[in-house]
Amino acid sequence: LDVVTKVGRLWAELGTARDAGRSVGLVPTMGALHAGHASLIRQAASECNVVVTTLFVNPLQFGPNEDLDSYPRSFEADQALAGVSGSTHLFAPSVAEMYPHRVLTTVRVAELTELLEGASRPGHFDGVTTVVAKLFAMAGRCRAYFGEKDFQQLAVIRRMAADLSFPVEVIGCRTVREEDGVALSSRNAYLSAAERSAAPVLYEALSVGKALVEQGATDPGAIRAAMADRVESEPLASLDYAAVVEPLSLATPDRLDGEVRLLLAARIGTTRLIDNLGALCAQPSQSSGTTPQGKEVQTCAGA
Ligand code: PAF
Repeated sequence: LDVVTKVGRLWAELGTARDAGRSVGLVPTMGALHAGHASLIRQAASECNVVVTTLFVNPLQFGPNEDLDSYPRSFEADQALAGVSGSTHLFAPSVAEMYPHRVLTTVRVAELTELLEGASRPGHFDGVTTVVAKLFAMAGRCRAYFGEKDFQQLAVIRRMAADLSFPVEVIGCRTVREEDGVALSSRNAYLSAAERSAAPVLYEALSVGKALVEQGATDPGAIRAAMADRVESEPLASLDYAAVVEPLSLATPDRLDGEVRLLLAARIGTTRLIDNLGALCAQPSQSSGTTPQGKEVQTCAGA
């Protein structure tokens, strides 16, 4: 594993690799790597010749009262996990290398960033899209891998890459979960033992919502309420939002149809966790046919 800290060297390395006909995979991370990141790196390694895992705790995406200073940092362990998972390069720039000047240029995706996470974390997605745009500019033509765990972030980055014509194919990868359903997240490290025992309530609530969608419920309000009730049945949990959205626009339809995404944010103690699940609406029965269409229920990637 080649550790690269300078933008100039990253450009040079990836340019040489592409000139030699090698494909490039990019896995942007903020470090504190866990099995979820390892699965992104493994997927990149199975599809690309050169895999750059980036490790940069991006100050631009943390609000003034967020956990920038206490965000978990574990360089040696990250280096080891990136290497065994199939990364060929670890790009770990300093803050001064990434932001050598006062930042006057930011990248902002409208609409998609104003709801859900954007409502309670003003400026967060602008920080994400600005750093990811820089990483895309530094990496050049590549496939870039992001987890579905941060579903809104994935939708925002997809839209940014399309709107700004980056030569980057954005790939969403399914969420890795513990056996009890808790989605892997670097922030799980903040949970006490009691809070960790309460954390599966998010996945349970999403599963309640998914079952309703797959049984034919079409009223988003009813599904939101069922998910909210389940979260609030856990004394250590307090709900921030429950949402049922169309996966690309993140808009809430009046009536559900086709593929939808269920999203939750809740505090468990003082730690704010987010999670989401895909669901496919039950097919309506066909009134014209003699045989009613069966309720074909399909598990979405990211389940
Ligand atoms: O998901 C993350 O870890 C970060 O938001 C990202 C995409 C690496 C940008 O800093």
